[in-house]
Amino acid sequence: VLQILYRKNGECVSSSEIKGELGITRSAVFKIINELKKQGFDIESIHHRGYMLGNEKDIISPEIINEIIEKEGKNRRIQYFERVDSTNTFAKKILMEGESYPDIIIANEQEQGRGRLGREFYSPKGTGIYCSFILDPFIKIENSILVTVAASVAVSRAIEKVTKKDTRIKWINDIYIDDKKVCGILTEAVTDFETGIIGKIILGIGINFNTPSESFPDEITDRASSVFMDDTFGVTRNQLIAQLIIEIDECMNDIENDEGLALFEKKLTDRFGKLPPPASALLDVVRIKWIAVKLGIEKI
Ligand code: BTN
Repeated sequence: VLQILYRKNGECVSSSEIKGELGITRSAVFKIINELKKQGFDIESIHHRGYMLGNEKDIISPEIINEIIEKEGKNRRIQYFERVDSTNTFAKKILMEGESYPDIIIANEQEQGRGRLGREFYSPKGTGIYCSFILDPFIKIENSILVTVAASVAVSRAIEKVTKKDTRIKWINDIYIDDKKVCGILTEAVTDFETGIIGKIILGIGINFNTPSESFPDEITDRASSVFMDDTFGVTRNQLIAQLIIEIDECMNDIENDEGLALFEKKLTDRFGKLPPPASALLDVVRIKWIAVKLGIEKI
């Protein structure tokens, strides 16, 4: 129902149209609309005409995210939590259990958001994007660093496209805007020890979307910031998550084969300037390090 309303972009949709498209009864439509209103969606019921979705509130919605990425021919199984301990921890747990699992886990709040080196990732309610992608890249463990590089490039491209703000990648897991960290990436691999092939990768991304600066814990307050200070100028978390999915897909496809690597190298050079030859050596971790040193984002 939400997808139909969203697709109509502020126009009124009759109850019979919704009922016809979904093959459900009028009273089921009515119930769903009321449930959506309860969740906080701004839906106007117009007498004799139907329903209209008002200005999109910033409520994370798997349906709206899928509606946006469908324009690119994509669709994802998204598991959404109002609150969870950590989306990465949850992803690990369901992978261990070996049952079916979603492609992406997203939360509106994390109680125990994890950063690298055992640090905490501050994950307050309603103002951030906390998500974990479950990926199957066909790469060897020794090249797994490329997944993090690709993810950093993808996240920074997504933020720039959706918000029109300049970002900087700090080697190699953090994204900065105006010299303050707005996003951290935590990649965790589940490896098949016999083959040395990575089975699954959990790519955890935490973005401070519009977290008020005064709310950051004291230890990070002078280093951390948000993509938007207060006003998001109509940009929603759903839009940024949808773009993240598109960019991550593209960058992950790129790093899986030589042809794609050349494309990925183009994305890297667009971001960092010219890279040293030869292009195929991009897989070499040493070379990536060299690039980072060259760019002044890492010291030897
Ligand atoms: C860092 O800055 O050191 C990495 C932070 C990664 C945070 C994200 S939020 C979603 C996912 N779940 C977690 O517990 N951590 C990652």
